[in-house]
Amino acid sequence: MKTGVGMPKLGVNIDHIATIRQARREKEPDIVRAASVCESAGADSITVHLREDRRHIQDEDVRSLKKSIKTKLNLEMSIAKEIVDIAADVKPDYVCLVPEKREELTTEGGLDILSQKDAIASVVEKLKKKGIKVSIFIDPEENQIKAASDIKADCIELHTGAYAGVFKLNPSDKNRIKQEFLRLEKAGNLACSLGLILNAGHGLDYKNVVPVAKIKGMNELNIGFSIIAHAAFVGLKAAVKEMRKLVTV
Ligand code: PXP
Repeated sequence: MKTGVGMPKLGVNIDHIATIRQARREKEPDIVRAASVCESAGADSITVHLREDRRHIQDEDVRSLKKSIKTKLNLEMSIAKEIVDIAADVKPDYVCLVPEKREELTTEGGLDILSQKDAIASVVEKLKKKGIKVSIFIDPEENQIKAASDIKADCIELHTGAYAGVFKLNPSDKNRIKQEFLRLEKAGNLACSLGLILNAGHGLDYKNVVPVAKIKGMNELNIGFSIIAHAAFVGLKAAVKEMRKLVTV
């Protein structure tokens, strides 16, 4: 399916294909095959997170995907030197800088640019010099968006976790859902007005994705867990196709 003007792209995060593989440390399910199935089902890009603890994606996965992917490779990563060096060497199409804690189950909050502006700025500069587009995963806050613009990031990825969390835990609390949605919308408008490419992700699923997909200027949604969980029942191709249809607004 073609992505049209104003229609958000769908980036599929396949970390949890590797989570299943790492449960037995075997070769299956094969990450390259998973990426190819997602692409054939309409994914516009493939995301993987090379975590410092290598709990799912391994260095070799990133290198294999870089060779095999026909769309775009988006590498989620911390700003740790070891990981930055790998990114600079592999040269994915995009990187998305995220905070990372060993004990977390998944990325918990956005990257606080303000508290480490110089360190993040130098990573942005280093990776941009390699021809990689740099995104920063941030909470939908004005000061973080302005800071991302100041340090010349190409894109931001708005953390949709708070919105998705209310949707999951208190689906009947329409006011809170609306409040969290309006925060995302306002942040998205600011980002676009500053010339930043606008992406979003985290916790998005088949029930909560449509309003976020409709935010003006939304370039790409990065979605992982809900698609892989659904794929356990319907297959990966069908799960991606279903999400592709929903974000085609
Ligand atoms: N975007 C970022 C920056 C993330 O860290 C993650 C989780 O790896 C996602 C998107 C995807 O989130 P989920 O797996 O909840 O769809």
